[in-house]
Amino acid sequence: MSRDGSAPTLVEILTRTESWLRRRGVEQPRLESELLLSHVLGMQRLQLYLVHDRPMAEEELAALRPLVSRRGEREPLSWILGTRGFHAIELKMRPGVLDPRPDTETLVDAVLSQIPEGEDAEEVFVADIGSGSGAVGLAIAAARPQVRLYAVDVDETALAVTRANVEQLGLTDRVAVLAGDLLAPIPEARAIDWVVSNPPYIPTRHIDKLMPEVSRHEPRKALDGGDDGLAVIRRLVTESAKRARRGVALEVGHDQAPRVADLLRRTGFTDLDTFRDLGGIPRVVLGRRDPSG
Ligand SMILES: C[S@@+](CC[C@H](N)C(=O)[O-])C[C@H]1O[C@@H](n2cnc3c(N)ncnc32)[C@H](O)[C@@H]1O
Repeated sequence: MSRDGSAPTLVEILTRTESWLRRRGVEQPRLESELLLSHVLGMQRLQLYLVHDRPMAEEELAALRPLVSRRGEREPLSWILGTRGFHAIELKMRPGVLDPRPDTETLVDAVLSQIPEGEDAEEVFVADIGSGSGAVGLAIAAARPQVRLYAVDVDETALAVTRANVEQLGLTDRVAVLAGDLLAPIPEARAIDWVVSNPPYIPTRHIDKLMPEVSRHEPRKALDGGDDGLAVIRRLVTESAKRARRGVALEVGHDQAPRVADLLRRTGFTDLDTFRDLGGIPRVVLGRRDPSG
């Protein structure tokens, strides 16, 4: 209700939501208010400004309030909206599954740079280990029709979201979604060309210092890389060295690239490359198998 007793207009609600989210530390409160409001009203974001002086109905406000309140608690926006754009695909999202980061698109691009384009190109078998929402593997499979993907996770919620995204992207013929630890659920007889992973790599003691979206909400097993952050990566590199025919590409923490490159070299990967994210941080380490070895 406005001060004069009339229903508040859309732009008034937008402004109030923005200042409320700003006070709660949300980094882009205007943009996010627009996204929440357009979600509730079923409009495109830019359409809001064409009808900015339209009064808001009580049912619309009732639908908006809990969403704004969740965001004020710093729940990831993608969980609230139920969707997130990543690379060239749109993903379904839900609470409990890691919200994919823009920096992770570096991992997708690194792997795509190794897989030629072309409808009649040879099949390439990719294993996305720790698939979460499916972001990495599905962006790769969507961009390269010759890719056959194994999407593996230990977490049931993550697997359910990966499956939902495989379906909505129409990739069921080319993707197997498997439950289990690292490469174990992929039968030994199955070929793997590339192992690709954005594994948990945050040192345990750093998790509580991260932004509230992460420390308060995201699942620990998606983040926790043990004392030095490399506990999962070490096991994954050892397993990949036995099975990956062409190579491995891993997302790593901001200061982990040299140590991970060293691990890859010591397990027999050669011709290593590092890829930087948008902030210039070495974010992905890629190692190849020596074809002669
Ligand atoms: C950092 S998240 C990455 C999710 C997704 N790939 C992305 O980039 O948005 C790590 C994922 O690895 C999964 N995970 C953790 N330990 C695992 C293990 N031992 N084997 C398979 N998956 C694991 C977690 O459940 C989580 O979904």
